[in-house]
Amino acid sequence: MDLVKRPRRLRRSSAMRDMLRETTLDVKDLIYPLFVVPGEGVRQEVASMPGIRRFSIDTVIGEVKEVESMGIPAVLLFGVPSFKDEIGSEAYADDGIVQKAVRAIKQSVPEIIVITDVCMCEYTSHGHCGIVEDGYVSNDKSVELIAKTALSHARAGADVVAPSDMMDGRVGAIRKLLDEEGFINVPVMAYSAKYASCFYGPFRDAAESAPQFGDRKSYQMDPANSDEALREIALDIEEGADIVMVKPALAYLDVIKRAKQTFNIPLAAYNVSGEYAMVKAAGRMGFLDEKAAAMEILTSIKRAGADMIITYFAKDVAGWLATR
Ligand code: PBG
Repeated sequence: MDLVKRPRRLRRSSAMRDMLRETTLDVKDLIYPLFVVPGEGVRQEVASMPGIRRFSIDTVIGEVKEVESMGIPAVLLFGVPSFKDEIGSEAYADDGIVQKAVRAIKQSVPEIIVITDVCMCEYTSHGHCGIVEDGYVSNDKSVELIAKTALSHARAGADVVAPSDMMDGRVGAIRKLLDEEGFINVPVMAYSAKYASCFYGPFRDAAESAPQFGDRKSYQMDPANSDEALREIALDIEEGADIVMVKPALAYLDVIKRAKQTFNIPLAAYNVSGEYAMVKAAGRMGFLDEKAAAMEILTSIKRAGADMIITYFAKDVAGWLATR
């Protein structure tokens, strides 16, 4: 054979492969989700998410310090309230669980970026992401309360607010209210293309946020659509989103890629609970090498175009990268 082109020339040694690598996963790309629950001294593992715990405000501080010491730049906070009602009042209460957690974290670990998930599903008795009227999640009434929720997070000291409800117009409403109240420098990270996905199953255990009737298909997107994702992202950018997000990540790599190529804006991808649970379970069963699988998946999410990845693997990855 007289081959001129031999791509294998560039794969001969690990030094050569290192030099030629196009995508690298860095600890600075990662955002670690945290669940905060009422009580004291709580460090309770989530059954469907091995290695992930729910913390009370006193114990979450130690966890955030550890996250920061590993070089992970940001956490994403979710709250599980002590009571739920029809209108999700604890979501926007100044002394709600997330608001208290943000204050405590910013006081003890001021440098870490605290992003808050802005939604109502953990706080409503029916488990939907807004106000329900005649069995339908009412858009405009929900948006009003979601904007109020974002404002209460900013007041508590959140560095970034991240609306995950998928109501129409919520990014604009949040931006307007934050600006009116003087929070012009608090960015909005919008869950822009958020799909109605089965991969949120384990999260709903952790956050106690499963809908009590029906599903979320009248507000979250149909997994079959990607043109629609671009329209959703375009709207959020128009309304003032600083960072846009595609969620889930693994089954939506094409959407991540289209979003990055079309808009060239800071893009986050959410490697969701089900994606984590799947790899953990296969690892435990001995069907897959957990570390290799996690690193390959996260690298592919970056390769597709994500600038940052929200992932339950963040601490594991920080450890793996440090001992490489
Ligand atoms: C709240 C919210 C959900 C997730 C993030 N924010 C659940 C849902 O929409 O049902 C899922 C995250 C995950 O699965 O890790 N609306």
